[in-house]
Amino acid sequence: MKEVGGTMQALVVGAGGGIGSAVADRWGRDPRFSSVWTVSRQQRPGHGAEGTIQPLLTRHTEEDIAAISKRVLEESESLSRIVIALGTLHGPSYGPEKSLEALRQTSMQEVYRVNCILPMLWLAALASGLRKSPDCRIAVLSARVGSIGDNALGGWYSYRSAKAALNMGLRSASIELARRAKGVKLMAFHPGTVDTALSEPFQRGVPEGKLFEPDFVATRLDELLDGHVANGELSYLDWEGKTIPW
Ligand SMILES: NC(=O)c1ccc[n+]([C@@H]2O[C@H](COP(=O)([O-])OP(=O)(O)OC[C@H]3O[C@@H](n4cnc5c(N)ncnc54)[C@H](OP(=O)(O)O)[C@@H]3O)[C@@H](O)[C@H]2O)c1
Repeated sequence: MKEVGGTMQALVVGAGGGIGSAVADRWGRDPRFSSVWTVSRQQRPGHGAEGTIQPLLTRHTEEDIAAISKRVLEESESLSRIVIALGTLHGPSYGPEKSLEALRQTSMQEVYRVNCILPMLWLAALASGLRKSPDCRIAVLSARVGSIGDNALGGWYSYRSAKAALNMGLRSASIELARRAKGVKLMAFHPGTVDTALSEPFQRGVPEGKLFEPDFVATRLDELLDGHVANGELSYLDWEGKTIPW
């Protein structure tokens, strides 16, 4: 059932990316929400503090993460939705590895940092304030390629293993939160292949109709969050709402 009256509050971490931005835009237009905090390294072009959107800049240091989390938790009466949409697959000096020989310490560290360490640090900083939350639904952007059971193709060592590590961190968090914050629902979400900067170099082989617009995925994620109440468990779901094997 959809809430009415503009009482919900949300936080999107990584609101400058394709998917994070689409989620923030969707919630920014949604009359159910009274505030939508957006956290990014950059001021989103054309997006200031308009309407319900409250933009916050970050460098993702531990001090930043602690300070922003504290501020949002204090200023929001109760967060209803959190999306953590951080991730990287390629950069100027790295990309998904096709062979063991391609592994490099610096690129592995960066891919682990953005896909696993930062999302877990954000979750950790926010969790302490969610103890009394009656209903907070959290989605962290994972990926199907982080599934060990689903890995039939190999390759993409850093990205795959960073997402697998993220999934494990989220699993432990869901067990801890089931004791400490019973109103919290945790979801590891696979959005499908989405037309963003992250997937751009790898879109050529995507079957027709399977390259999604960020708005479509934001809608699916919003609907999935609406449909999942706290049950003490981590759900690992794709954009269709289907469970992905670990
Ligand atoms: N696109 C796909 O096909 C696809 C498929 C499966 C899973 N995913 C996952 O979906 C999530 C969102 O990806 P996207 O497709 O929206 O990609 P995107 O447009 O490239 O956005 C990347 C996001 O990661 C953040 N980020 C990137 N590099 C960073 C760094 N060095 N330090 C801190 N933050 C950094 C960005 O934050 P700022 O707001 O600061 O820019 C942005 O929120 C990721 O977790 C990705 O793995 C995407």
